[in-house]
Amino acid sequence: MFGDYSTRGFKEYVKVAKGILEDNWTGSYTKPSPALYPHQWNWDSGFIAIGYAHYDQKKAQQEILSLFEHQWPNGMVPQIVFNPRALGNYFPEPDFWQAPDGRLTSGITMPPVHATACLHIYRKAKDKMLAKDFLKTMFPRLLASHQYFYRDRDPDHSGLVYIRHPWESGLDNSPAWDAPIGRIKLNKKKLPRYERKDLMHGVPAEQRPGDDEYDRYVYLVDLFRRLGYNEKEIYRDCPFLIQDILFNSILCRANRDLKDIGGILDEDIAQIHGWIETSSKAISQELWCSGCRKFESFDLAAGDHIHTATSASFMPLFAGAASEDQAEILYNTINSLSFCALHQGNCFTIPNYDMTKKDFDPKNYWRGPVWINVNWMISQGLKNYGYQEKADDMKQDIIQLPIRFGFHEYFDSHTGKGYGSSGFSWTAALFINLVSEYYDKDKNSLPWLKQRVFYKTKKKKILNKLSESRGNSSEDVSSRLMTSIGDLKDKFYDLNRGRIDYAAMKASSKYVRYLEIAARLQAFDPALLSTSSQKKAFWINLYNTIIVHGVVELGIVSSVREVPHFFADIAYQVGKFTFTADEIEHGILRANARPPYNPFHMFKKNDPRRKLSLQGIDPRIHFALVCGSRSCPPIRFYDADHMDEQLDSAAGNFINSSEVIILPEQNKIFLSQIFDWYKKDFGGRDNIFDYLLKYLNEDKESEYLRQNIDRIKIEYLFYDWNLNH
Ligand code: GLC
Repeated sequence: MFGDYSTRGFKEYVKVAKGILEDNWTGSYTKPSPALYPHQWNWDSGFIAIGYAHYDQKKAQQEILSLFEHQWPNGMVPQIVFNPRALGNYFPEPDFWQAPDGRLTSGITMPPVHATACLHIYRKAKDKMLAKDFLKTMFPRLLASHQYFYRDRDPDHSGLVYIRHPWESGLDNSPAWDAPIGRIKLNKKKLPRYERKDLMHGVPAEQRPGDDEYDRYVYLVDLFRRLGYNEKEIYRDCPFLIQDILFNSILCRANRDLKDIGGILDEDIAQIHGWIETSSKAISQELWCSGCRKFESFDLAAGDHIHTATSASFMPLFAGAASEDQAEILYNTINSLSFCALHQGNCFTIPNYDMTKKDFDPKNYWRGPVWINVNWMISQGLKNYGYQEKADDMKQDIIQLPIRFGFHEYFDSHTGKGYGSSGFSWTAALFINLVSEYYDKDKNSLPWLKQRVFYKTKKKKILNKLSESRGNSSEDVSSRLMTSIGDLKDKFYDLNRGRIDYAAMKASSKYVRYLEIAARLQAFDPALLSTSSQKKAFWINLYNTIIVHGVVELGIVSSVREVPHFFADIAYQVGKFTFTADEIEHGILRANARPPYNPFHMFKKNDPRRKLSLQGIDPRIHFALVCGSRSCPPIRFYDADHMDEQLDSAAGNFINSSEVIILPEQNKIFLSQIFDWYKKDFGGRDNIFDYLLKYLNEDKESEYLRQNIDRIKIEYLFYDWNLNH
């Protein structure tokens, strides 16, 4: 395997995304979009700061500090902070809210993503001293805002806080609110006069909430101001009181992150610890509807769960509040037709409302489109529970939607078309975050020259060195080794999630057994493998296993890049010879072809191991060799009798995964670096497309490629070297 020497890929789009944030920057914070949302929004600033954290620490800090300057004395962080110079283009503004003490804010709050954002800023910070000072300033403010929630929004100490306006949920016109706001009986005559301004900015009415909904939004604001924003009285009188699943999940996650911040600062975190315990338990038990097999918000006024199937119900994954069993059920729902299962075609992952419902609307705001922020949180949650592949699918769509359709507020879940405002800040910010984290180029750059020098100076680490190596005939050891690899696979490789439980494996007796058998390879003569299928199966399995063995033995935590020359360094003794991972790959499986960026063949002329090389390169091996990294193919077990089918299926899986993205609108195809490093193996650049077309599923994109083979442009994806655990 080879390092990533390229920083091509999404660079130009990252530039566009940064430009959007720059344009929306007001001098002390970033507005969500150029015209539709001209002030500062609460959770938008959290997401925006997460993006800035990757390239402008000061702005990231400033974004959050600006918002918290307007924190109310009771700890509440307002949903909107108004810009006095931009009044007149939005409704409702301060004259309507009438917040106490003439504050230029709205009188409600929003999902508290800020502790999460602050911790992220600290982790990414180049200037750690500055970041620590920032955390010191923020800790008491964040604590006060969480205290506000548990004091004023959870009067019964249930561990769950309520929201009192749909705008507080962040998902304004979610179908989940239809019933609770539908119950509000309006006397239109008593409703204050108002004029909607959201339709003045060119966004069609069909993409926005309706007038009936707006009447009810206004009714609630009017109630709050009549009650002087007294929380106790609002609790008594408000017809809309919901223990929202999204809000509580975000708060639960924020508690975890606040606890970590407290830990960094050596603060007392006992209270936060208590919140984490009670809130995750309450989410897992009280907001779980076992009959419906999903998480749901609880309608306090109606005394019942709200059974609407929106994407908010996956948020306990982000909170870390779902049990493993609940997580599996959520995963199955996310991965179903209701939420655009993989390869279903004609949709993007994941719409924010169940696509099979009659009132699903792919265009209307929170009633069906794809939203970047919610999906970003869900994909993080999936990843934390180990559903890496699905998390990656979602990330792929989060990345490709803005590339294809622009940095919009939300996207049509069928066509991908961008809706709402263009130049939308959190879409840009979270795009920057994903591109930086998922394709983290910094970790990968290693000048190829150094790598070559290393080839000459390296010391091999022979991993199968146990002294016991007697007692078995050659053939016997080969098949026993395969059985033992199969056992490890059954027990510790999760094929669905494409991950390996390295820690459990190291501690197991099966692993000890494997080590014993691996040691016997010393007595195995690889020349006994006669057919090409036998050779491929043996060496592919051996390669895949030596990588896993290397990760375990060298105690690698997050990336094979921790050991500078991992693939050239780890080796097995097989019969009289030693083979490093690179030698197995290039010397044997790639028929002694030159490794990329290397002028020399793996085995020199008189190297006796040349006799063992395969004859000719089967490029499908690239989809079968794992490399202990996220961008590699998932691990599989190969057997000689089914070699062809298995390699075809490995190629099909890889080529239809997020490592190959076709963008007809831009006449571009993004390809895994594997197709760059090994282009010769695929018959050179001119033949790569024919090769891909053999395996690509038939759909609009593959048809586009077929028609435009001579003019489509290739860009290569960054390589993700993070460990697949
Ligand atoms: C809309 C969204 C909300 C967002 C705001 C500003 O009101 O529903 O979640 O914070 O716009 O972008």
